[in-house]
Amino acid sequence: MRKTWAALLAAALTVAPVAVVTVTAATPAAALDNGLALTPPMGWNDWNAFGCNVSEKLVEETADKIVSSGLKADGYEYVNIDDCWMEPNRDAAGNLVPDPAKFPDGIKGVADYVHKLGLKLGIYESAGTNTCQGYPGSLGHEQQDADAFASWGVDYLKYDNCYNDGIPAQTRYTAMRDALAQTGRPIVFSLCDWGEEDVASWGSSVGNLWRTTGDISASYASMLSNFHTNVALAAGARPGAWNDPDMLEVGNGMTPTEDRSEFSLWAEMAAPLISGTDLTTASPATLAIYGNKDVIAVDQDSLGKQGVEISSAGGLDVLAKPLSDGSVSVALFNENDTPATITTTAAAAGLPGAKAYTLRDLWAHTTTESRGAISAFVPAHGTVMYQVAAVSPAGTYPPSTTLANAAPQQAVAGQPSTVTTTFTNNGSAVSGVRLGLGAPSGWKVRPLTGTVFGRVPTGHEAIAAFRVTPPATLPSPIAGYTLNATAAVGWSGGTEKVASPATVTIPSPVQAPWQTFTDNTATFGQQGGKLAVQGAGADLWGAPTSTAPSTSRAPSTTAPPPWSR
Ligand code: GLA
Repeated sequence: MRKTWAALLAAALTVAPVAVVTVTAATPAAALDNGLALTPPMGWNDWNAFGCNVSEKLVEETADKIVSSGLKADGYEYVNIDDCWMEPNRDAAGNLVPDPAKFPDGIKGVADYVHKLGLKLGIYESAGTNTCQGYPGSLGHEQQDADAFASWGVDYLKYDNCYNDGIPAQTRYTAMRDALAQTGRPIVFSLCDWGEEDVASWGSSVGNLWRTTGDISASYASMLSNFHTNVALAAGARPGAWNDPDMLEVGNGMTPTEDRSEFSLWAEMAAPLISGTDLTTASPATLAIYGNKDVIAVDQDSLGKQGVEISSAGGLDVLAKPLSDGSVSVALFNENDTPATITTTAAAAGLPGAKAYTLRDLWAHTTTESRGAISAFVPAHGTVMYQVAAVSPAGTYPPSTTLANAAPQQAVAGQPSTVTTTFTNNGSAVSGVRLGLGAPSGWKVRPLTGTVFGRVPTGHEAIAAFRVTPPATLPSPIAGYTLNATAAVGWSGGTEKVASPATVTIPSPVQAPWQTFTDNTATFGQQGGKLAVQGAGADLWGAPTSTAPSTSRAPSTTAPPPWSR
């Protein structure tokens, strides 16, 4: 009996290999081994900034800008077309057809253009009957579509999850993985199943990267939410296989501080760096964020480790990412709406014991030296990123210091308040420290304590308090000012100057008969007939249009709020 079964199985293997493949499909898929994306992919995608308004012209102009802006030299390589690139129906032979109005030279024409620039082309499809915008999907057409992509010269496929007929994601994505492999063309495979069906547990056997979250939008809250989900999945990332918290919103409307945080956190998490902004019109400040070589180097480090959250108490997050040269990238992220000092140690970040450590600030591009503490005063929603390495001998760089500025978030016009500044020396002992507080014109500042300190040993603090009085008359219903804590620090190499700005807001109170209400964080102000409201990144009221000031930090002029109507 046994012999008979064995003989039957052997016969099936010989004459019907397809049947055998079907039978074995229930076993786990073989690992993806396409040799691609050994560091996280870098590039651009049109979706976040343009939605369905994608075109050959846009893609080619963006490719040109990636070259002319220097981003190509920085490592940005993939120029990716998202949804809406095709005709609403397949042709009579079942082929996908690029929309001739949007892509007069077809996808092949764009690929040729992009390749001539030394860049690579990405395309979008869905592992369903339709794409998310209703165009034909690849479910059941995997090989035909993969062959088309390969024949056009596509180098990267973002594969979405809409209209999936309830078929398990792993089955649908594996079918396309195998179809891509069958083409023989190296094509990076990006799984866009929004973190569903526990993709992080099987994504590395199917794709080079897998989305871990729903769609990002250009708000701090959205970015923060994607960060939280993605940071917990660190163990699954490695060369060729990356967690993808979605495209970068840098340049799309968050504050510059938040933009830098997103870029820092994505790099610290070894996430794909795919810009979702309009690079053709991006400001120099936005391009400078995308072009921060020090931060990019952390993302692209060949060790391929995703940074791990080593503490997160009170919304003060510390991430540590080991790098191939033995140093560690440490990100200090302040999730909160008020500035805060965030501190960890070299030991907690996984560095070996040493007398001293260099801290290279990857945004300020300065280097200081610490005896072990890794610390910074971090603005609200901000991130400080250090590359930390053990050094010997100590004393080459200025001491690492932390200067906390406890300016109140709000003050009252003409009314004094007290601002305490706390200097902490994390480096070798310093010989002299002078603390100060800079204020805009019209303000009065008077020290309440001594401000000059002799020797401040390692790990010790020097504290000074100042009485500050804002002007009695303000220029606007909600006036914003910066109070700048400063320290001049004497060390063996000279005098080191550090500064910690903090923002103080002074609203002029709203007068009767006006009343204010918010179930959100908001500040209201009034000067005569001028009313103002300032929010902290979430909706203040449910205005119906996308131009609603849901992310505004300044009074809106587009629509009066209901309470003023
Ligand atoms: C989904 C994806 C997005 C984008 C759109 C296009 O929502 O998650 O990134 O590709 O589809 O329709």
